[in-house]
Amino acid sequence: MNKEQLMEQARKTLENAYAPYSEFPVGAALLLKDGTVINGVNVENVSFGATNCAERTAIFTAIANGYKKGDFQAIAVAGDTEDYLPPCSICRQVLAEFCSPEMPVYLTNGKKEILELTLRELLPYAFTELEM
Ligand code: THU
Repeated sequence: MNKEQLMEQARKTLENAYAPYSEFPVGAALLLKDGTVINGVNVENVSFGATNCAERTAIFTAIANGYKKGDFQAIAVAGDTEDYLPPCSICRQVLAEFCSPEMPVYLTNGKKEILELTLRELLPYAFTELEM
């Protein structure tokens, strides 16, 4: 699966976002090394702090389905935004827990261009272990 196909999946899954408060739907498509794609959407709550972002929904679903650190190949994130929509900082931290710093993160914009970054570029000097 190439980055365009993965991004298409992220766009499609946007329809499933539950975002009645922000009206800001986000879709994520997480590619596993075995070729499986796991989708995620933001799931909001009337108690706003209970909201879960699309990227975390995808990662947590993968973990719940038995995938482990090292199984992740790439993630694509899509929203209805003009500019590239980057993962929030909590999601970057969750990605850093399970994914390689070299893992590609694909972002897209209103022109459907794709920006490819590594997780390390999104989160340099990541906090990943307790022994320092
Ligand atoms: N959101 C995501 O799902 N992913 C991001 O990368 C940025 C923000 C969601 C959270 C909330 O439901 C809405 O977008 C507005 O912040």
